[in-house]
Amino acid sequence: MCGIVGYTGPRDAGPILLEGLRHLEYRGYDSAGIALVADDGELFVEKRAGKLANLRSALNGRTPHAGIGLAHTRWATHGRPDDRNAHPHVDCSGAITVVHNGIIENFRELRDGLVARGHVLVSETDTEALAHLVEEAYAGDLAAAVRSALGAAHGAYAIAVMHRAEPDRLVGSRMNVPLVVGIGEGETFLASDVAAILEHTNRVIFLEEGDLADLRPWGVTVTGPDGGPRERPVSRIDWTPEAAEKGGYAHFMLKEIHEQPQALRQCISGRVRRDGRIRVEELGPVAPRLAALSRVELVACGTAYHASLVGAAALQAWTGLPARATVGSEFRYSPPPLDPTTLVIAVSQSGETADTIAPTRYAREQGCPIVAVTNTVGSAITREAEAVLFLQAGPEIAVAASKTFTTQVATLVMLAAAIARERGSLGVEEETALGRSLLALPAAAQRALDLSVGVAGMAGRYAGSRGFMFVGRGTTFPTALEGALKLKEISYVHAEGYPAGELKHGPISLLDADCPLVAVATRSTVYDKLISNVMEGRARDARVIAVASEGDEQIGRFADDVVLVPDTHEILGAVLAIVPLQLFAYGVALARGTDVDQPRNLAKSVTVE
Ligand code: G6P
Repeated sequence: MCGIVGYTGPRDAGPILLEGLRHLEYRGYDSAGIALVADDGELFVEKRAGKLANLRSALNGRTPHAGIGLAHTRWATHGRPDDRNAHPHVDCSGAITVVHNGIIENFRELRDGLVARGHVLVSETDTEALAHLVEEAYAGDLAAAVRSALGAAHGAYAIAVMHRAEPDRLVGSRMNVPLVVGIGEGETFLASDVAAILEHTNRVIFLEEGDLADLRPWGVTVTGPDGGPRERPVSRIDWTPEAAEKGGYAHFMLKEIHEQPQALRQCISGRVRRDGRIRVEELGPVAPRLAALSRVELVACGTAYHASLVGAAALQAWTGLPARATVGSEFRYSPPPLDPTTLVIAVSQSGETADTIAPTRYAREQGCPIVAVTNTVGSAITREAEAVLFLQAGPEIAVAASKTFTTQVATLVMLAAAIARERGSLGVEEETALGRSLLALPAAAQRALDLSVGVAGMAGRYAGSRGFMFVGRGTTFPTALEGALKLKEISYVHAEGYPAGELKHGPISLLDADCPLVAVATRSTVYDKLISNVMEGRARDARVIAVASEGDEQIGRFADDVVLVPDTHEILGAVLAIVPLQLFAYGVALARGTDVDQPRNLAKSVTVE
């Protein structure tokens, strides 16, 4: 997704902004640009399609000395990803500069009006219209002009604006897209993400919907859409810039895969007592509504959806209530009947996914109690929910999710147990057995990593395959989906995740020596059934890679390659079984030479529909 960084203060803005963009690269982008009001009052703009290196080489290592500037990484929504459509965008007078994340939905109408009034728009973007709207509204006060321009725009946005005539002032505003203000010593920052400014300050204000922030080097004023003041707390962020760096690993994804034991430890700590009792205090605000529930709906996208499938199974098993997970973009336009007895659980690593937020908001409007599960403090989803459970997994930089999947599964399982206990449907013995498995999970995840040392090498032998069929059954099915998604995302090889019993109803025709079968065959109540399905595939010449539980002595008879993972509570199986499959995807991607951390066409957080 797009990234924004802005600076006003006594230091030279250019290098600060370029470094900020580097920290935002992980969000995924297709072009980058920078604008500065140089010390001589001239506006300097440079922007380039492609990676940041293209922008840097266009700049030839130099930017004019400036105390204020804006920079942007773009992920195209309107107009091709080329130099012209890259941000920043400038008005007719060359005085006003705008960068923008999100989509202005009525931009065609706005553009037509602007063109009819004599403006010359040079790009195909929705953003450029904003620069011209600010131009029309400007009468010496940038904040007032931005507020007025935004009054005409509908959609989702985080914007940052500067005017050459006010060379120490940055104005930012947000609606459904994140924007944070950084408070330094005699300098201030605007950013789409704290990672962009963390090396300069850890004191930030998370702007809320409709907020307009007026930044000067010495401070910031926040107002609402009505122009009235808004009190916004300054938060201290304890993520160090180093925490977001790669450490000794070749890729962020590999680092994050190896961080899973620690991420799980953080996630579980404070929620499971030593005696195995599970306490999810964050559930407090919805606790009074749990007794009257009639069903549970989980809503999520991508990896978070796969974790939600585990959550739904746990909830249904332990509460006896119907529970299901639905992809956000489907839920949004074909919503199930919702009423105040339907608990809605929204799951989103970033907390900013438009396809997850919209149905959550709709459910809230229907009176449903809402619980959000996210990794991101201050994210949009948290404002839609009465109760929020944070994954506490630390920042995840690679576009393909790893540690946020395993911590989502753990968090949802703890949530399901806590809900069932509140409703009196989970006995103490069951609860403590689960609690003990949770406490053992970080060490088990480490063992899964240790047992998987050979996986990346083994993956290399399969990297030339035409495609892969991942299968699971019951509790292992979500892992098959997630394993296939990882492979697709980072290696660009076709992979499908299927319930093993469905193989014979169609996809078995794809299997041959060039399409291996990856079986998630960890211990489960339907293990034998799954093995029968694997045998059907093997009979079609498919090579079989199996992920199985330690101690499984027969699996070697059914598979060409076996990776073992420790045994755990069946509902937590995905947390361990996914580890070798993440490494398998990584190994195939390495062998195929793809961009592991920033795969083509993908963005870490998708804030448009
Ligand atoms: C994007 C990412 C996926 C991710 C999905 C949901 O499409 O590329 O990896 O699973 O969004 O993201 P969320 O932040 O809502 O969990």
